[in-house]
Amino acid sequence: MLLLTLGTAAGGGVPQWNCACPGCSGARAHHDRRRTHDSLAVIGDEPSSWFLVNAGPDVTDHLEAHAALRPGPGDARTPVVRVLLTDAELDHTIGLLRLREARHIEIHATEPVRRALRDRLGLDATLTPYTTLSWHDLPRTGQNPAVVAGIETSAVHLSAKRPRYAADAPEDSGWVAAVRLHDPVRGTTALYAPALAEWSGEFAEEAAAADCVFVDGTFWDDEEPRRSGVSSRTSTGMGHLPVHGPGGTAERLAKLPARCLYTHLNNTNPLVDPSAPQHGVLAGRGLEVAQDGMVIEL
Ligand code: MLT
Ligand code: MN
Ligand code: ZN
Repeated sequence: MLLLTLGTAAGGGVPQWNCACPGCSGARAHHDRRRTHDSLAVIGDEPSSWFLVNAGPDVTDHLEAHAALRPGPGDARTPVVRVLLTDAELDHTIGLLRLREARHIEIHATEPVRRALRDRLGLDATLTPYTTLSWHDLPRTGQNPAVVAGIETSAVHLSAKRPRYAADAPEDSGWVAAVRLHDPVRGTTALYAPALAEWSGEFAEEAAAADCVFVDGTFWDDEEPRRSGVSSRTSTGMGHLPVHGPGGTAERLAKLPARCLYTHLNNTNPLVDPSAPQHGVLAGRGLEVAQDGMVIEL
């Protein structure tokens, strides 16, 4: 399978339209520092078959950015778009509204995520006058996987963190998941986890067996959201394990055999500046920061 990193930013992107922090200002001055909302395209071995993991506000620009995702051959329109979701957060789902020109949209997600999109965001009622939707379960890893474009897909449940618009919805371990992608022909596995609240035993086991792991790189350290004024909570309190420091993910990822890349970077994260010394800390541990537009063959 081929993985394309379509975007690598947390909600708001880099730069965020209403923010003048050093990360956002730096991205206005240096175009190559811009990051769009995190999303992954997966191209399977079946001819012209692909799907997305997460569909944020930049989704249609993402589909234009890569030849393999554009319509065709000839003047044929892209008939169907398939989207897998890690969670129901707006930065991962509002792109579904931008895909309304499709004849059909297939959405694969855990049960609480499907319920939030249907009952709280009203996606069925809003989109049905434009297109048709079909909703599929993204089964929990260990159960029979769902095969999408020849790739076996499942959800490693990560946390019960609900989006703010569904804060009063029932608790469920599947609100936030890592999407597990397994290519049965090549025997390769990737995990996509842009929101990681907790390093659970289940996640550790899956990460240890994967070839490539995308991990939550929202904040560099636990105090970053408070220091920058983004939130009164710590990074961990916001449902994002920090990269660095006690309880950070870098130390754990460095022990894995997989290729590990950080994604979902917030604009306050020093890593959005390519000259920041924090890049050296990660490189010393063999870890990478994903960029928009990377192509990874697994
Ligand atoms: C998150 O990653 O925690 C959410 O996208 C934040 C939000 O926009 O509410
Ligand atoms: Mn987010
Ligand atoms: Zn900013």
